[in-house]
Amino acid sequence: TQALRLGIAGLGTVGVGVVRIVRRHADLLQARTGRAIEITAVSARDANKDRGVNLSEYAWETDPVSLAQRDDVDIFVELMGGENGPAKASVEAALAAGKDVVTANKALLAIHGQELAEKAEAAGRVIRFEAAVAGGIPVIKSLTEGLAGNEITRVMGVMNGTCNYILTRMQSQELGYNALFEECAELGYLEADPNLDVGGIDAAHKLALLSSIAFGTKPNFDGIQIEGIQHISLDDIHQAADMGYRIKLLGVTQRSARGLEQRMQPCLVPSGSPLGQLEGGTNMVVIEGDSVDQVVLRGPGAGEGPTASAVMGDVCDLARGLQIPTFGRPAETLEDAKPAITGLP
Ligand code: NAP
Ligand code: HSE
Repeated sequence: TQALRLGIAGLGTVGVGVVRIVRRHADLLQARTGRAIEITAVSARDANKDRGVNLSEYAWETDPVSLAQRDDVDIFVELMGGENGPAKASVEAALAAGKDVVTANKALLAIHGQELAEKAEAAGRVIRFEAAVAGGIPVIKSLTEGLAGNEITRVMGVMNGTCNYILTRMQSQELGYNALFEECAELGYLEADPNLDVGGIDAAHKLALLSSIAFGTKPNFDGIQIEGIQHISLDDIHQAADMGYRIKLLGVTQRSARGLEQRMQPCLVPSGSPLGQLEGGTNMVVIEGDSVDQVVLRGPGAGEGPTASAVMGDVCDLARGLQIPTFGRPAETLEDAKPAITGLP
């Protein structure tokens, strides 16, 4: 069988992580998928930056759109970020050129997911985005495959590693915001604009995607009630602790009699509960379904290795020929299943 050829746009934290896995696990990936997986071309802004990995065997493209259109690329792997600009243009170019897309870009999909899924459907291609939600936790795969026999009633959890890291370190070390930002940057957790993290927007992007997959609705980011952690002080954290609680940035999406409710807000959770005990960049996603009852998924929500692991899970599915669209078949599931009323009752 012919090798599956990747073109990777974006060689930052996640992109370099993907290069490392492809190089380190060439044999393992081939054994697992039945196909060799190789990188043929890459793109980033600065061609001269030392990224700590050997890129000399790969063709270099300065323009990610050109990368997406190359004949020697089967799968376009978008790891640049941003809800518009080169990310959107190159994903569209890849689909138009007949390539499947794997991305970690929740901002792009939370805002343009519907439009891009329709373009993918029209082109007979798929967009996969496991890495976009909860880093290394295979939460999308759990919803679309393992729990496919359930009517999902609620999805909730902690979905931003940066916020969880900051909140738990404020609690245990009493460190200031700026020092904690530095630590998150070193760990590779931060978005290019960290206000997306602390403002709850990044977590809300993820919630919009989970909602859409869980309930068969269009991603509706604008319908999410969002509050970040910027205004949480050490005093708030101490007062919560005195009452036996921890503060967590918690997302919830559920159907109610009023429609679909989506919220991303700091919440008090009991200190001794699994959510209360969640430390550092760890994420936790709780899925409730009519048959399974409750499933709890916990794992690293950000950083090079965990995120690249999720990207490679999607690549391996495509290598095995599993071209199942994550959003489902648009005609059935991208329309609002019921008229949606979002926000709190
Ligand atoms: P990053 O470290 O900032 O890397 C971004 C990469 O994209 C850089 O290599 C940059 O090039 C390249 N780039 C930016 N604009 C470009 C352009 N116009 N043309 C070509 N290349 C361009 O970001 P990251 O942390 O790897 O995140 C990448 C994506 O993964 C984002 O969508 C993010 O939301 C998502 N994600 C990240 C994590 C995480 O833990 N970091 C987890 C889940 C999802 P230069 O290096 O030359 O500047
Ligand atoms: N900035 C994100 C976080 C990266 O801190 O969770 C993972 O999506």
